[in-house]
Amino acid sequence: MKALVLEKYMQLAYTDVPVPDIGEQEVLVKVKAIGICGSDVHGIDGSTGRRMPPIIMGHEASGIIEQTGKLVTEWKAGDRVTFDSTIYNTNDWYTKNGMYNLSDGRMVLGVSCNEFTRNGAYADYVAVPQHILYRLPDNVSFVQAALVEPAAVALHAIEITPFDPSYTAIVVGAGMVGSFVVQLLKIKGCKNIVAVDLDEGKLELAKKLGADFVYQPGEPDLFDKVLSLTGGRGADIAFEVVGISATIRLGIELLRKGATLTVLGNLSPVTDMPLQTIVTRQIRIQGSCAINGEYPAILDLISSGKLDMKTILSAEAPLSEGASWFSRLYNKEKGLMKVVLKP
Ligand SMILES: NC(=O)c1ccc[n+]([C@@H]2O[C@H](COP(=O)([O-])OP(=O)(O)OC[C@H]3O[C@@H](n4cnc5c(N)ncnc54)[C@H](O)[C@@H]3O)[C@@H](O)[C@H]2O)c1
Repeated sequence: MKALVLEKYMQLAYTDVPVPDIGEQEVLVKVKAIGICGSDVHGIDGSTGRRMPPIIMGHEASGIIEQTGKLVTEWKAGDRVTFDSTIYNTNDWYTKNGMYNLSDGRMVLGVSCNEFTRNGAYADYVAVPQHILYRLPDNVSFVQAALVEPAAVALHAIEITPFDPSYTAIVVGAGMVGSFVVQLLKIKGCKNIVAVDLDEGKLELAKKLGADFVYQPGEPDLFDKVLSLTGGRGADIAFEVVGISATIRLGIELLRKGATLTVLGNLSPVTDMPLQTIVTRQIRIQGSCAINGEYPAILDLISSGKLDMKTILSAEAPLSEGASWFSRLYNKEKGLMKVVLKP
């Protein structure tokens, strides 16, 4: 089969590789669409340590089951599917207690690091354990389904955050995941959504997707606006979707006392925190890791036409052109958001 292989850092090749073998509990999926994730783009230069070559990356995909392992009973060849990016253990304390996203020994498809290597879906075929599969509603396309993963990441963060429709919410970082946070907060009926991003193009998109107010981080009006929306208190919740000290600090400073900051961004392994503000204003800060069962809700929202997957889609292209799309994304070409490749 053909696959886009990261052969060395910064070197992607569209080349022939063997079709993966499947285990008794796995299925072989013929990949129809696969989204390029920012973590793959950042990963190709070795800076994250999570895409150690050689590896077939890719964890935002959809396709058709081609073959099933001996012990697979719920799925058959021809089923249209998507799948979680996390391969979790079913027999694990965390999974049994409703937190499979935190299960020990979890692997992520298309990731290779010191702990594990698991080939992903930039390929004609990918092997996937049956317990992470989800059936596609008939009216959900393969391209839409390839975008479920980042939307589910955003929904997970919202689900673990205190919420009331009267709330004012801040979303710092309106990129791929942040723009889904904006959209999902809007669908949930959040009264005021304030998106903050350096990039004006991203802010325009955020406005289209439901942000009531958009700002660049340095704009003086930002603090005044948030105070005026909240009776002088500050925002009720904030989502940090960049992952650096400056944006963590900004998220915290825009909050009222007793509010919650949910951190999704993880660009920097370590960040500074304004400790006095956190303690004296009793700010709750929590991380949000991946997805914990949010796929069906996102598939429903797409199927019912409530979740817009089109606005963020910049291009659909053949997998054979993957290397050049990676290079355009790596070089931060203006106006490019989500690119979906098709084997
Ligand atoms: N927690 C999780 O499970 C999870 C899952 C996926 C991604 N992530 C992380 O979430 C973050 C965002 O991922 P993404 O795919 O949306 O990336 P992205 O590149 O699409 O979006 C990042 C956005 O942040 C903006 N930005 C950069 N610096 C900024 C600053 N100083 N102030 C304001 N905005 C700034 C960029 O303009 C961009 O729009 C990354 O750190 C990624 O690793 C976390």
